[in-house]
Amino acid sequence: MVTGQDFRILRIGHAALRVTDLAAASYFYVDVLGFVVARQDSKALYLRGLAEFDIWTLALLESREPGLDHVAFRVEHPEDLEVLEALHRQLGIPTKRVEEELEPGQGPALRVATPDGHPVEFYHSFEQVPVYDERGRVRLPMRTLHQARGVPPYFIDHINVRVADPESSLSYWRDLLRFSISEYAVRDGHIFAAWLRRRRGTHDIAVVRANGPSLHHVAYHLSQPSDVLRAADLLADAGYRDRIDFGPGRHGTTDAFFLYVRDPSGNRIELYFGDYQRDLDGEPIRWEWDDYDTGGRLWWSPEYPQRFLETTPVNTTWP
Ligand SMILES: [Fe+2]
Ligand SMILES: [Fe+2]
Repeated sequence: MVTGQDFRILRIGHAALRVTDLAAASYFYVDVLGFVVARQDSKALYLRGLAEFDIWTLALLESREPGLDHVAFRVEHPEDLEVLEALHRQLGIPTKRVEEELEPGQGPALRVATPDGHPVEFYHSFEQVPVYDERGRVRLPMRTLHQARGVPPYFIDHINVRVADPESSLSYWRDLLRFSISEYAVRDGHIFAAWLRRRRGTHDIAVVRANGPSLHHVAYHLSQPSDVLRAADLLADAGYRDRIDFGPGRHGTTDAFFLYVRDPSGNRIELYFGDYQRDLDGEPIRWEWDDYDTGGRLWWSPEYPQRFLETTPVNTTWP
């Protein structure tokens, strides 16, 4: 530890993606997949899954090219932002404090450019979805299924980014921010990929070796396994067959069901269901390359499409 003060990151909070056509993005995410619209203006759309308490978890920002604007993580206490700011500054990592409501519903935040080149934000407070109706009775967010359309997605689960050197990325994510590795894959004696979490699930973020930094995908958890098939049907029926990258299938790593699709701008979204729960102090599970290569991506087969290796850019002007 560089600082004597404590802090705790709780979970992934939201992702902001750049889209080149906001109307096409709205049709894809809202009309077809069934994301809930929380806020919108002429340049941005703020969405959430049906079972989320944060007012939004996916921002779509109109831009000239696709990719990741930023990914945000929630911290346990407001003071954690100061601790994290000091920690990053001591290591010479660029930081910026931003005021509340710079993004709708978001409290004060700390923005950093991670050593592996990714635009990351930390925040504590965020506007919540009302849980009481006008008569004061409980109405949980997911109990609006009668108004839902599409799949619908339930909640943000994780982000997967590409980095030049996963081992040096781990000195940030694992050693500095204290993320726990659930699983990792080793190739030629070096870590090729690692799945990292601050919750009991398998990952909030995955780092994978490639020409990083870049975005591979943002994943939303669904309500049940059959919703992965339903998503494939909906996307094919709506004319997005050529945008489906990979799946439906079951991953070997994390054991989850998956479907990958590119949005109309080219950002890859994963529709995901059912990884396992395990304590954060569990010994990380190690995949040797041959094992990972034949059964890690897809448990049922070693085959995967080459287009699955493509990525989209990340915001390099952050913070
Ligand atoms: Fe944000
Ligand atoms: Fe994923």
